[in-house]
Amino acid sequence: MPIPESFLEELNSRTDIVDLVSSYVALSKKGNKYWGLCPFHSEKTASFSVSPDRQMYYCFGCHKGGGAINFVMEVEGLGFVDAVDVLAKRAGLQMPETTSGDGSTRKKRERLLALNKEAARWFHANLSKPGAADGVDYFQKRALTKRTITRFGLGYAPEGWDNLIRAMAEKGYEKADLMDAGLAVKNSNGRIYDRFRHRVMFPIIDVRGNVIGFGGRVLDDSKPKYLNSPDTLVFNKSRNLFALNIAKKTKLGKLILTEGYMDTIALHQAGFDCAVASLGTSLTEDHVKLISNCTKEVIISYDGDQAGINAAQRAIGLLEKSGIEVKVLRVTGAKDPDEFIKTYGPAAFGQLLEGSTNHNEYQLNQIKAKYDLTQDDQRVDYLKEAAAFVARLDSPVEREVYGTRAAEAAGLTPAAMAEEVKRLRTQRRRKARRQEERRALSPAQESQPAERSLRYQNVPSARAEEGVIHLLMLDSENFQYASALQPEHFSSPALGKVFGLLRDKWEKGQVCTMASLSANLTPEEMSLLARIQEKPVSVANGERAMADYITAIRRQRSADTDDALMAFRKSKLSNGGTTE
Ligand code: CTP
Ligand code: MN
Repeated sequence: MPIPESFLEELNSRTDIVDLVSSYVALSKKGNKYWGLCPFHSEKTASFSVSPDRQMYYCFGCHKGGGAINFVMEVEGLGFVDAVDVLAKRAGLQMPETTSGDGSTRKKRERLLALNKEAARWFHANLSKPGAADGVDYFQKRALTKRTITRFGLGYAPEGWDNLIRAMAEKGYEKADLMDAGLAVKNSNGRIYDRFRHRVMFPIIDVRGNVIGFGGRVLDDSKPKYLNSPDTLVFNKSRNLFALNIAKKTKLGKLILTEGYMDTIALHQAGFDCAVASLGTSLTEDHVKLISNCTKEVIISYDGDQAGINAAQRAIGLLEKSGIEVKVLRVTGAKDPDEFIKTYGPAAFGQLLEGSTNHNEYQLNQIKAKYDLTQDDQRVDYLKEAAAFVARLDSPVEREVYGTRAAEAAGLTPAAMAEEVKRLRTQRRRKARRQEERRALSPAQESQPAERSLRYQNVPSARAEEGVIHLLMLDSENFQYASALQPEHFSSPALGKVFGLLRDKWEKGQVCTMASLSANLTPEEMSLLARIQEKPVSVANGERAMADYITAIRRQRSADTDDALMAFRKSKLSNGGTTE
């Protein structure tokens, strides 16, 4: 069942959180903490902190926090037992045998990955079997070389309902396994059959080399053109990019982001081995995190149609936010990069790449294209929209450069543009200040936990409860002053739970560290606990402080009881027909 306490203690003592986090995030020391860019949200300035003395991390931006195990859970997307497993391997410890739910998830994940690999091998091997002429012809028609086919492990799923099911049965996999892997589906009659039939197959491989899913393309014009694996235990299309396993090794120093499998493959074949594709979804924050682990420069190379232009706009915003330098490449004379290379060749694409514009210029061009600049009223509207864009640029130099350019493009004076930009920026500043004031006026809102489900019902009491927890985390000897307090006195169930856990540990003479709590608290509760410990406290006198907190909690409790009594009396009165 659960992992023994003693094992976790051993593991925690052998794990240094600074060391661990450093392998994911570049940290630099300031004061008694280490700081870096948060791996859990997009940011340009470091608000993610790691404190070696408390062995915990906390992000002042997104409020995530916890100990080493939580960090691995969060950053690798694992459950508790799997995260412990990762840390155990790292520390050279043998995992104790467990039969808990999470452990079996890990086994299941391994089984699905093994099955996916077998399936990918089988799809690929089909290409050299008789009866796969359709698949071979198709790749030939798309001008893919043998080398490319091998490199990407492309394959073919033949016609028929259960070819894969039967082939995998020989390897010891059951229909249920194939359903779990998204390789088989069940119809309403309960019949189970291959998901991918009569399609060419594109295996999707993650950065660690695991085959996590597939895309399958029809050989003709039937629909759907592409069929992808559904989300499974090992596959989530919003978190993976096609070909990143290859592109992350590129020497080109950047990534080219495309919309499709075939665009990416064509680019690789043409020598641009830094191409990746989002898998039939728009770019997500998770994709951006994945990208920013590999590179600081991205060239967006989407289709030339309106959908591609819209998708590029969205992607620019997301990538920019995390400090990636973004350029946009316009494909002209072809619908997408694949078709462009086929028509004009790799050298021509290289020229497009050279000429890819800075994204600010790209966006201004987009704005310009919306207006007929020979019409006065449209020029006014253009000026307004372009100024709004320029006003959002952070750097004064950029505002000057792009403001001037945008003005000149419409035959307007740079001064007119500059004035409009200035007006908009003043407006923005006022708005920001008002918001700031509003926030300052509602401190209750600010002291709420980030996680909705943990919201405090009684903020004054919860503040005192946080104080109690903080004192106890600083020094468990403070328990001697808290004997009057019980978990059920806490207005916040989460804080009451933490108090109970800490007290148990203290009574058993165990350590009360962040690391020792992660087995019993949810990630949200751990984040709250990390946040509490980052709040400033004066702890000159633990006894005095504890007494004050307990008094505050009592006072709030009796006020709550009074309120409840009042409400009860009131309801009695109105039920009795008395009007007020
Ligand atoms: N896509 C998908 N499901 C579809 C259509 C498209 O998942 N029914 C995804 C695929 O990842 C595809 C990408 O969206 O690669 C781009 O789609 P599209 O532009 O329609 O296809 P192309 O890349 O041009 O594909 P091809 O060249 O093979 O026609
Ligand atoms: Mn295409």
